[in-house]
Amino acid sequence: MLVQECFNARPDDTFLVTSPKCGITWLKALAFTITNRFRHAATSDDHPLLTHHPQDLVPFLEMPYRQLQPLADLEKLASPRLLATHMPITLLPPSVSNLGCRVVYLCRNPKDVFVSLWHFTNKVGVDYTMPMDKAFELFSDGLSPYGPIWEHNLGLWKKSIAESDNVLFLKYDEMMAEPVKHVKMLAKFLCVPFTEEEVSHRVVGDVVHLCSFDKLKSMPINSSGAIDRIGGLPMENSAYFRTGKVGDWANHLTEEMAKKLDAIIEEKLRGSGLIF
Ligand code: A3P
Repeated sequence: MLVQECFNARPDDTFLVTSPKCGITWLKALAFTITNRFRHAATSDDHPLLTHHPQDLVPFLEMPYRQLQPLADLEKLASPRLLATHMPITLLPPSVSNLGCRVVYLCRNPKDVFVSLWHFTNKVGVDYTMPMDKAFELFSDGLSPYGPIWEHNLGLWKKSIAESDNVLFLKYDEMMAEPVKHVKMLAKFLCVPFTEEEVSHRVVGDVVHLCSFDKLKSMPINSSGAIDRIGGLPMENSAYFRTGKVGDWANHLTEEMAKKLDAIIEEKLRGSGLIF
């Protein structure tokens, strides 16, 4: 509520939006690297990603808890700002839409989101690990952080159709399959397209490589230590890098669980044109 009331968007702001565990760490790394590549080449020895966790290079609108940490730090950022949020479209501050700000939305196969979320939540919950089947029931009933995954996806999907110039709708699985194509697409959307010269010098591949799961996971800044980014919940830096695979759900969900979630998602998204 505080963010909704007090955050002042600027017309040249870009918002990176995901439901939790859909890959915002990756998206932050990519968007930061693309937009800052004229100051920091992806191959440079002092690239900020070598010394900063991707989560800390693009601030969240709603974290750390904004009632304790006012929005002043966001006000101080120079334009054009790159900001992130997990908030669904219904909770985004009205100025984001009113000013026609650019939004990059990244979604992911809900079965992989659930498995990723379960593992991540277990790292935060100190004393209690919720059994996977219980967590699955809650997720299937729409009880997830930031609301049901299908509503989160649908809200931005519809906005991306209605405002295709302002919203880029991406899928994690497709980005994993064709990263170069998607990084080019992202750069174009962010108004910093790769030039032919950059393409011929393999700059796109350098960006993809620097932000790849294996590369980021292996960096000391991401593989050790813990930081409280939420407010009272220190998280291990490594918790944001688990397997980085498409289809890992098959190693964790029973056939029955997979069928159930598929059926729910199919029903909730029916007619929208959005499929997983
Ligand atoms: P898994 O738990 O399936 O491995 P978020 O960044 O939104 O918290 O999402 C975390 C998920 O993105 C985790 O998925 C994590 O491993 C994966 N991830 C993190 N960095 C990535 C990268 N550079 N490329 C691809 N996936 C990445």
